[in-house]
Amino acid sequence: MLKFLKKYWWIGLIGSMFMVGEVLIDLIQPKMMAKIVDEGILKGDSALVWSVGIRMILIVMLGGSCGILSGVFVNICAQHYGNDLRKACFGRIMNFSFEQTDDFTVGSLITRTTSDVTQVQNMLAQLIRGAVRCMMFFIAGSSFLISLNVAFSRVLMFALPVILIEIAFVVWKSGPLFTLLQKRLDRVNSIIGENIAGERVVKAFVQEERENEKFETGNRELVDTQFKVLILLSWMRPIMNIVLNIATVAIIYIGGMEVAAKRMEIGRLMAAITYLSQILNGMMMLAMIFQTITRGVASSKRLKEVLSSVPAIKDGAEREIPLRGGSIEFKNVSFTYPGHHHEVLKNINFSLGAGQTLAIIGATGSGKSTLVSLIPRFYDVNAGSVLVDGIDVRRFPLDELRDRIAFVLQKSEMFSSTIKQNILIGKPDADDEEVKRAARAAQADGFITAQPEGYDTPVAEAGMSLSGGQKQRIAISRALIKPAEILVLDDSTSALDLGTEARLFKALGEEYSKLTRIIIAQRIATVMRADRIAVLERGRIVGLGSHDELMASCPVYREIYDSQLRKGSERK
Ligand SMILES: Nc1ncnc2c1ncn2[C@@H]1O[C@H](COP(=O)(O)OP(=O)(O)O)[C@@H](O)[C@H]1O
Ligand SMILES: [Mg+2]
Repeated sequence: MLKFLKKYWWIGLIGSMFMVGEVLIDLIQPKMMAKIVDEGILKGDSALVWSVGIRMILIVMLGGSCGILSGVFVNICAQHYGNDLRKACFGRIMNFSFEQTDDFTVGSLITRTTSDVTQVQNMLAQLIRGAVRCMMFFIAGSSFLISLNVAFSRVLMFALPVILIEIAFVVWKSGPLFTLLQKRLDRVNSIIGENIAGERVVKAFVQEERENEKFETGNRELVDTQFKVLILLSWMRPIMNIVLNIATVAIIYIGGMEVAAKRMEIGRLMAAITYLSQILNGMMMLAMIFQTITRGVASSKRLKEVLSSVPAIKDGAEREIPLRGGSIEFKNVSFTYPGHHHEVLKNINFSLGAGQTLAIIGATGSGKSTLVSLIPRFYDVNAGSVLVDGIDVRRFPLDELRDRIAFVLQKSEMFSSTIKQNILIGKPDADDEEVKRAARAAQADGFITAQPEGYDTPVAEAGMSLSGGQKQRIAISRALIKPAEILVLDDSTSALDLGTEARLFKALGEEYSKLTRIIIAQRIATVMRADRIAVLERGRIVGLGSHDELMASCPVYREIYDSQLRKGSERK
């Protein structure tokens, strides 16, 4: 993850240089103060008081400016870094295969790209600013303090180990807690996300109470963990203060004796007290920095998991890509979902020439959606091969393969923009005429133009303002506008009435006849017209042929036919 710093490290360096300036000035001040007291006030030299005093004011102003500039530069550096990190994460997530997204869970991916990135960003800012500050306060402060009087080193020898042990303890304890904290945050984000997305289901089944409880539990766990962290951290300051106070008393005691013995002036004693508090405050800051670092490290591990996940579905290496045709072939294909045991597809064989239509029919769960999802490589086969235009889909560069396929998913997803924008996803540079042509074929033009704003009607988030059939037709328009050779309709006309569906298929046959079509459907009426029909039962093709052939040879097909078309007649 350091590579994201390459572009910005010099900005951070400038920031830390200003920090050095600020700290140096902070460290010079007690010395000047000592001079005012010892040589000015005690000796009655008011001219010296004035000249040193004015210099001190100027220098303090300079120190303040350095502090501000250091903050500006360091934040610029950290923000840019965080921004790049977030982009990289998001880019990686976009390349995830479905199973990878499922593995991480959506909630966790959101937490990682938001909260975790922020933690790492804070860690960077703290490291640049705080580390420089602490180190300097510690090293320079200690040597200045000792240079005032060697006797003071005894105080440091006792105070510092106590504080270091304390910091080490807190870091050791809080590290795992911070990881847990992010995990709890994942969970709460998941619950919120699911419930907002599934709001209608929750309301329809009156599950508000239960979901509330689920949220409460998740939230309580989050708060509990936060409490644990806070309690742990709240020990830190009081102990530090006790150490600081005891050390101050010791300094005054030792210094007082030195002053009484006339071995040291009172102003230097004052300076010593200031140095001591600077050193110990520096240590305190170190503790805070360690906290941020512990937290940042926990988060950066989580980000690394995302960034180092290799997309499970990789580009193929083939560079001699065949011309676009549209033929599809399944050769002895078997498939099991990753992480499952049940074989969903068994020894599937068929081939489909360019421009042909295959309909797939079968009970829910028979593997229809799974079968077509292998063509654009949403998943990879376990055995056998899927060929498009004569070569194995795994050899295509992914974009090249997917560009050839227009896919209408079983669930028509809508994005929250206008209807036109939703269709344009299929071909972003299409003109209005093309949009209209696709929508007309998909039988969507009618209801779209009937909307007051026509094609510019906003689709409310998740398409809630549209009916199921309307969404399906927009999704089909989106696929038809895409300059592809293969069209897959996965149960995409299920919400259309038979008349509309028939008009749609007629339009497809007339205007889009060059497309190789795979049409999944539940209704015999939909599949009857296809060149070939595959009957799927529990992952096997149990019949393949035209309607007439299947009626003659495939009992499963005949059964479906009977149950649908002879319903209500005397034959059962
Ligand atoms: N993402 C998935 N992970 C694991 N199993 C799945 C997944 N999707 C579907 N299945 C299983 O695969 C089988 C076939 O599902 P599917 O292809 O969706 O059937 P169909 O589209 O014919 O209704 C079912 O048993 C289903 O439970
Ligand atoms: Mg399905």
